Amino acid sequence: MTYPIVRMRRNRRTPQIRALVRETRISADKLVYPLFVVEGHGVKTPIASMPGCFHFSVDMLVNECREVLALGVNHVILFGIPAQKDAFGKSGYDEHGVVPRAIAALKRDLPGLCVWADVCLCEYTSHGHCGVVENQVVNNDKTLPLLAEAARVYAAAGADIIAPSDMMDGRVDAIRAVLDDNGFSDVAICAYSAKYASAYYGPFREAACSAPGFGDRKSYQMDPANSDEAIREVALDLDEGADMVMVKPALAYLDIVRRVKDEFMVPVVAYNVSGEYAMIKAAAANGWIDHDKVMMETLLSMHRAGADVIITYFAKDAARLLVAPRA
Ligand code: PBG
Ligand code: ZN
Repeated sequence: MTYPIVRMRRNRRTPQIRALVRETRISADKLVYPLFVVEGHGVKTPIASMPGCFHFSVDMLVNECREVLALGVNHVILFGIPAQKDAFGKSGYDEHGVVPRAIAALKRDLPGLCVWADVCLCEYTSHGHCGVVENQVVNNDKTLPLLAEAARVYAAAGADIIAPSDMMDGRVDAIRAVLDDNGFSDVAICAYSAKYASAYYGPFREAACSAPGFGDRKSYQMDPANSDEAIREVALDLDEGADMVMVKPALAYLDIVRRVKDEFMVPVVAYNVSGEYAMIKAAAANGWIDHDKVMMETLLSMHRAGADVIITYFAKDAARLLVAPRA
């Protein structure tokens, strides 16, 4: 059947009909809010390239997360910015480090909050690479035990979900084994499986002071030109025991999100990264786009593409709108 019997516009005629036939909705309980933790007390320092985002000391982080929970966002993912960096990223797996202390404080004061811990070395290494560097090369197999140790320390502090973002081969397997051997078999792993070597991470690297001191991350993060390779990465991480898989960045990789969702029947996470956030904030600040509408359209598109979960710096902004939905 076709026009004039079929008229597609009938289902678009009123807000009520449009709501009735709407296929996709985002809700605050699908969002994960990323937060940066620093040493000190009473610290809440704005991050210039990410308006609305801050560096928090542990005490201030707890206040922030109370607000996040009140908005209906139940998940946060923590990134640590340590006082000391060294070649092996020791402050990343120090049990007295900033992230384990933050996890413990959050789980104590806000038991309803689900705390994710990003696991990587780049925030903690003096050279800014995601692994152990030898002769200017990131050594995969020497990095694995350090990542696994970080995961163990975060799990011991109370982390609910461990999210390795390093892109070393075999890290999910290494982390799963160490978690299970230490009584943390209930702690989930969300693997950054298809993580691309992207220029969209610029503001994050400024925020985390984690830009590589030499070279780039192309020998471990994926080539933006590749799609089949993402499927292989996801398959391997699932084989190694990942409970959820991530595609990162999100906006320029929605085709990958859809392929992963179609190919594997597992929870898919999309990371709406710092550069994607900064672009919308900057254009909106100039009056060139409508902030709230572009933000919601962007998040909705990620969900429609197949993302069950979205990690986004917009989580609070979006949740505020979702509390008072528009027709
Ligand atoms: C560290 C890490 C990065 C991001 C999350 N974890 C940056 C990188 O790989 O350099 C990027 C997040 C963002 O841009 O919002 N491995
Ligand atoms: Zn890293």
